[in-house]
Amino acid sequence: MNQDALKQAAALAALREVPEDAVIGVGTGSTVNFFIDGLAAMRGRIAGAVSSSEASTARLKAAGIAVLDLNSVDDLPVYVDGADEVTHHLQMTKGGGAALTREKIVAAVARRFICVADGSKLVGRLGGFPIPVEVIPMARSQVARELVRLGGRPALRPGVTTDNGNVILDVHGLDVLNAVELETQITLITGVVTCGIFARRGADLLLLATAEGVQTLHPGGRGA
Ligand code: 5RP
Repeated sequence: MNQDALKQAAALAALREVPEDAVIGVGTGSTVNFFIDGLAAMRGRIAGAVSSSEASTARLKAAGIAVLDLNSVDDLPVYVDGADEVTHHLQMTKGGGAALTREKIVAAVARRFICVADGSKLVGRLGGFPIPVEVIPMARSQVARELVRLGGRPALRPGVTTDNGNVILDVHGLDVLNAVELETQITLITGVVTCGIFARRGADLLLLATAEGVQTLHPGGRGA
């Protein structure tokens, strides 16, 4: 199976976790695109979706799924999203698609975060994939200096403006020994909107597709 087939298998497995008649949270990326395509076939069974990016909003609408403003929704039973890296504790690096801030907001509201990924995303420790940081443009240089103080090598992602009008610094070389602590440290830098470490609010369930099938992993290490 190639990587796309694995992404699709993980995404389609998440359809079983979607409650009927609910508004659900929908993430961003190529794995989630397969999920949206699967949702299209069952669109009458959900009330609508809250989207984490303009790209996912366009795909949801094209699939005939109603997209709701998060401010009009007080309960999101599930949020389905991919990851750039995920650990056995279901802490993640996200933001490869530059949608990290809206992803973190929707994840904060959701009762369950279901991460969908192919097996290549599972790592022992975060940091191999550079940590994306969304930054207010005028603070770019100052934030970069602070990230160097934390031991990282920030690089401006060329040609990218986020859905919120900001820039992305990708931070290479960070030793993510304590993901919760590093997420907090980076987020507290003035000028940072958010960072792509999702450790304080990790996933509740990981659907990980490998050649052997889709594995179900929980943060406590329970698998199925
Ligand atoms: C977008 C993300 C994506 O979930 C992450 O980049 C994984 O993408 P893909 O499913 O294409 O591998 O965080 O900001």
